[in-house]
Amino acid sequence: MSTAQPEHKPRVVTTRSVMNMKKTGERISVLTAYDFLVARYLDQVGIDIILVGDSLGNVVQGHETTLPVTVDDMIYHAKAVKRAVKNALIVVDMPFMSYQNSLDEAVRNCGRVMKEVGVGAVKLEGGAFIADIVRHLVEIGIPVMGHLGLTPQAINKFGTYEVRATEKSEADRLLRDAKSLQDAGVFSIVLEKIPTKLAKRVTEALDVPTIGIGAGPHCNGQVLVVYDMLGLTEEFKPRFVRRYGELAGEMRKAFTRYIKDVKSGDFPTTKESY
Ligand code: KIV
Repeated sequence: MSTAQPEHKPRVVTTRSVMNMKKTGERISVLTAYDFLVARYLDQVGIDIILVGDSLGNVVQGHETTLPVTVDDMIYHAKAVKRAVKNALIVVDMPFMSYQNSLDEAVRNCGRVMKEVGVGAVKLEGGAFIADIVRHLVEIGIPVMGHLGLTPQAINKFGTYEVRATEKSEADRLLRDAKSLQDAGVFSIVLEKIPTKLAKRVTEALDVPTIGIGAGPHCNGQVLVVYDMLGLTEEFKPRFVRRYGELAGEMRKAFTRYIKDVKSGDFPTTKESY
């Protein structure tokens, strides 16, 4: 039997089917991708959602924060991902200052992503203060995923990447934010780095699915940054990242062997030449 066959039955994932997965109790698998090949492998093995995250600012572009990422950057990477994907729902992060300033700007920038790339949805960070923008986007046909808790675009306000909403007042506000996003029409909400108990409370209070990252096991789905789970970002070791590979070491080994083979003249052989 060929090992290349995926073990899952391919199915096209939509925002509607993601919402339905909460009803049926099926957990939602989400990983990020920023390029064609990673997106292709994720899609081949049946990932439900591919998030073109603005985390590309950190892991692809090498910035300290996600703030410098532009709408053009997101469109460039999302187009590469889109070319690879047949079944997964593609969600694109809207970068810092592409939607917060005015409804006009939000519509223009989210509209560009939908029109120029052809993805299924966008993701916006923030709570009640962006609910009107979310409502309008959803009304005009742009599905939105919310993002609460540790929202990296607000890092300069928080001053730290520590767990959010450990205090009752912030936890209560997060729950209110989640409800206003749901009322505004989001199809799901990412909960990042919040206490397990709070994530459970929010998940139980909502009809739309929650997708956790550092938010414990009670969320309706889980998301990780793909380079973290592959072990490529080897210095980054928060407890919520489970490593499914150690690719940094593998890459260094391969590069070292290549350099040695070139230096020694062992590569290329006659078989590797024309
Ligand atoms: O940008 C990103 O990759 C994200 C996930 C970590 C949720 O927002």
